[in-house]
Amino acid sequence: MNKEWWKESVVYQVYPRSFNDSNGDGIGDIKGITERLDYLKELGIDVIWLSPVYKSPNDDNGYDISDYEDIMDDFGTMEDMDELLRESNKKGIKILMDLVVNHTSDEHKWFIEAKKSQDNPYRDYYIWRDPVNGEEPNDLRSTFSGSAWQYDEGSDQYYLHLFSKKQPDLNWENEEVRNKVYDMMNFWIDKGIGGFRMDVIELIGKIPDEKIKENGPKLHDYIKEMNKKTFGNKNLLTVGEAWCSNPEIARQYSNPDGSELSMIFQFEHILLDQQPGKEKWDLKPLELLDLKKALSRWQVELEGTGWNSLFWNNHDVPRIVSRWGNDKEYRVESAKMLATLLHGMKGTPYIYQGEELGMTNIRFENLNDYKDIETLNMYNERIEQGYKHEDIMQSIYTKGRDNARTPIQWDDSENAGFTTGEPWIKVNPNYKEINAKSQLNDENSIFNYYKKLIKIRKLNPIIVYGEYKLILEENKEIFAYTRTLENEKILVICNFTESETKFILDEQIEFKYREFLISNYDLDVNEPIDNIVLRPYEARIHKFVLN
Ligand code: NOJ
Repeated sequence: MNKEWWKESVVYQVYPRSFNDSNGDGIGDIKGITERLDYLKELGIDVIWLSPVYKSPNDDNGYDISDYEDIMDDFGTMEDMDELLRESNKKGIKILMDLVVNHTSDEHKWFIEAKKSQDNPYRDYYIWRDPVNGEEPNDLRSTFSGSAWQYDEGSDQYYLHLFSKKQPDLNWENEEVRNKVYDMMNFWIDKGIGGFRMDVIELIGKIPDEKIKENGPKLHDYIKEMNKKTFGNKNLLTVGEAWCSNPEIARQYSNPDGSELSMIFQFEHILLDQQPGKEKWDLKPLELLDLKKALSRWQVELEGTGWNSLFWNNHDVPRIVSRWGNDKEYRVESAKMLATLLHGMKGTPYIYQGEELGMTNIRFENLNDYKDIETLNMYNERIEQGYKHEDIMQSIYTKGRDNARTPIQWDDSENAGFTTGEPWIKVNPNYKEINAKSQLNDENSIFNYYKKLIKIRKLNPIIVYGEYKLILEENKEIFAYTRTLENEKILVICNFTESETKFILDEQIEFKYREFLISNYDLDVNEPIDNIVLRPYEARIHKFVLN
């Protein structure tokens, strides 16, 4: 058992644009985050993952960076950032910076130079190719629709952009690029940050000519080099975003020998409502057995050999209570059930802002209310391809990234207390009912349930280090598992349906004594544990001290 602080921690993701606006311009900012540190301390989290706050023209909400060592005007100044670091560190909260180095903005000085001519010293910082038969070098597609190649008239070449055309891909083959990135990372490490979340890190080893995007042959060499030249001996948390991974690759990334990263952030359980081989917008119904399989595979296959992140939400995926839960009559119960399932597993839990309040998806009738480049590009492309408006809107309601990007609902005042101005994206109208203020003082709130889950983690090493085992594998309504550490065992039981469901334990647990750690319903502590009727979305964690 390799003990590490980042295994015992809980991370909270802040998407600054939508978190808290301190100056009334309608856009969340860094001072706004500092103002809310007490709230995060109250929740009990250890680390903030800060989505990008660097200088950026905001084509992709900050994931297009024009200066890595400066702060976006909308968000404040470097002094504000230093203050946030100081104040959070005082409270024992570390800050994880978002490292976006697969690409820069086209307004980064490197790209402005590179574009000037084929022999500019910065040209090779990016990936340029000659036209083939007067067209794109190949049919690589951008994640944000259309070709991944953009023609540059001035030099009669195409450059690669796996995201928007304002996000040109850096050329990681170029040693100078790599060293510049490492210098920048050290700049931030010297400021006292807690680590990095690495944006689409799996893409940096790409070979565009062979149409290899993820997991290119040099990927792990680059990560090892980065590790040695930056965070390697600094005891930081490093987490790599990886959409196309498997446990074998994850064991490389998160090798316990510390040669690469602390953990990965993979999406197998998030992709379950997508038709195989199609795009994320091509929906298929969710099946509990698929979820069990996906989550359990990673639990079992990384046991003792790697480390995973546990998450339901981030700024790219829809709200979990609207997905696997019921965001209407059982919103509170199902949000708590989903939290129980995840926080009982092995890995480092991530809470995405608003998840701790049970915030829900958004449904804008008017396309103009959507702000996300991915959504808008997809809409235009599909309209051109002849899809029906209603079908596209259905995909957006289910999967669009703006579902997760509406402002945090702080209270029931105008604009949910997020801003005194006009919010950059509309607030979810359900803020009168769902908001932080009403939950802080309600001991049965979702907020206080998350707080309790975090506390349980701190008090029970078995939650961090216990070995996972799925039980009732074929049950289509209940997701249940055990964790075992030395002479302790916990049993996590979650009803994924809105009906009563019988739970029958299929193995005997011999124990000296037991306790209930948590449940989203009132429990009779003397009730037997092996044959019970679970209420709608009921969840519970039992702990046993074994014979
Ligand atoms: C992944 C980020 O999470 C997403 O928001 C962004 O659009 C892409 N990477 C490109 O940086």
